[in-house]
Amino acid sequence: MPETAISSSRPRVLSGMRPTGKLHLGNYMGALANWVKLQDQYECYFFIADWHALTTDYADPSRLKLNTLDVALDWLAAGLDPERSTIFIQSHVPQHAELHLLFSMITPLGWLERVPSYKEQQENITGKDLSTYGFLGYPLLQAADILIYQADYVPVGQDQVAHVELTREVARRFNSMYKSQMLDGRPIFGEPDALLTPSPKLPGTDGRKMSKSYGNTIGLTEDPKSAAKKIEGMSTNGQRPRHTDIGDPDQCPVGDLHKVFSSAEVIAETQSACRTASIGCLECKTMAAKSVSDLLSPIHERRKTLREEDAWEILCSGAENAAKVAEQTLLLAKEAAGLAPPGRIMGQFPQDAIPIRQNMYAEGSITLDFRNLWLAKPELRDIPLKEAARETFATEERFLEEPLLTANKKRVLVAAPDSLANDLNFEIPAKSYEVWVLLRLNSRDGLISDFILPQKVFSQPFAKAKKSLKKDERIPATIREDGGRFLLSIHGSEPIDITELQSNYDPLK
Ligand code: TRP
Ligand code: SF4
Repeated sequence: MPETAISSSRPRVLSGMRPTGKLHLGNYMGALANWVKLQDQYECYFFIADWHALTTDYADPSRLKLNTLDVALDWLAAGLDPERSTIFIQSHVPQHAELHLLFSMITPLGWLERVPSYKEQQENITGKDLSTYGFLGYPLLQAADILIYQADYVPVGQDQVAHVELTREVARRFNSMYKSQMLDGRPIFGEPDALLTPSPKLPGTDGRKMSKSYGNTIGLTEDPKSAAKKIEGMSTNGQRPRHTDIGDPDQCPVGDLHKVFSSAEVIAETQSACRTASIGCLECKTMAAKSVSDLLSPIHERRKTLREEDAWEILCSGAENAAKVAEQTLLLAKEAAGLAPPGRIMGQFPQDAIPIRQNMYAEGSITLDFRNLWLAKPELRDIPLKEAARETFATEERFLEEPLLTANKKRVLVAAPDSLANDLNFEIPAKSYEVWVLLRLNSRDGLISDFILPQKVFSQPFAKAKKSLKKDERIPATIREDGGRFLLSIHGSEPIDITELQSNYDPLK
């Protein structure tokens, strides 16, 4: 995919699932098992698509919350790992909805009406009125889900491929429509690829495809004993009416279960024993039940140790992390679509301590200057920034000389260095500030970090430098990195170790 404004080191994977309640083996084999594996290789985002659930179940949301929790618990039991993946609830990250709204402006109705699932579901799902605005927008919301994280890959089943295709079209349309508005003509959105998850033929307990609507499922976190009982009670689809008859395992749902869950040896053994009538069906089913319960047992055990509070906690912090990434894309998209950035910064930082009085964008340029970003969106700190910020950073006017005032009227200087060289050079106006905030963009990982320096750190060398320079001349300051320490020198002064002052916002309070 083309290089876009945001890039991260590992390719990004994103997928979602509607909260249908406790998961069954079909959900596991058709999606979740694959997600668990993807965590090793990719930066993964997995979310519970509760808004998507509302597009069809808006009339009765009574089970939505519980179903959402059940899905989360089953994910965790199956091995989605919050240490490696960002796991969250869609509606907890409102940026999805905002991007969906922007996309709705540029998406022709015909694109949505032509998505195959639209007509199909309207015809097949009876008892629900799906002639709604929200249901038509289902795939567009999905496009926003995917593009807001700039996902590279979207693991989905065959039924969702058309939605990923629409996502690519929306990305292209947005990019070309708003090209001229963009900082450097680089497209905002890449085009994600579907990672098709093959879904094996998985029979339910009645021999039909396993599906919640048939009531023939085996639960993912079900007690393996009860799962075994269900399997032992399965019919053989008329195969081997008598013990001595030979059978065809390819015509028997139990044979299909073996193919999905048993080892190659057990598959070979039961197949040939079925064809030669040298095994009883009950024994064959018991073997299938064992294969299934070998898989289910650890999941069942893990589920027992999971507490609901822990799941909510994981979902909360997942949403927080997801929102940081989503917000970066949203800022770019809004800017591209010509929306004015907020004229007055309503957000406050840090921890609501400081109302920012000044109009950060009133400098003639609304480009996402590095420093403005820091000021406007404190939550953007410590997360990768868009490449564009990296470039404008060197060329933008570097100072906001006018001090910022904190709530208790401390005068704050926020300065960005004049280049991205390893030694950071700042030019400090010869004015009096009580706090200096010196910003640094780590060119390796694109993270912003900030040094918050209270007056006592710089006052002496600063006063000395002011004396030796001409009036109103700017005072050079340098931050040098040395073996993981950060050393500040003001106009050639002795180096001051400011390592511990990184990301410590106390002086601003
Ligand atoms: N529509 C998907 C499904 O029914 C769920 C979903 C919502 C999704 N948003 C997504 C899947 C984004 C992948 C990516 O299965
Ligand atoms: Fe089905 Fe196994 Fe009996 Fe063959 S032996 S018919 S595969 S249950």
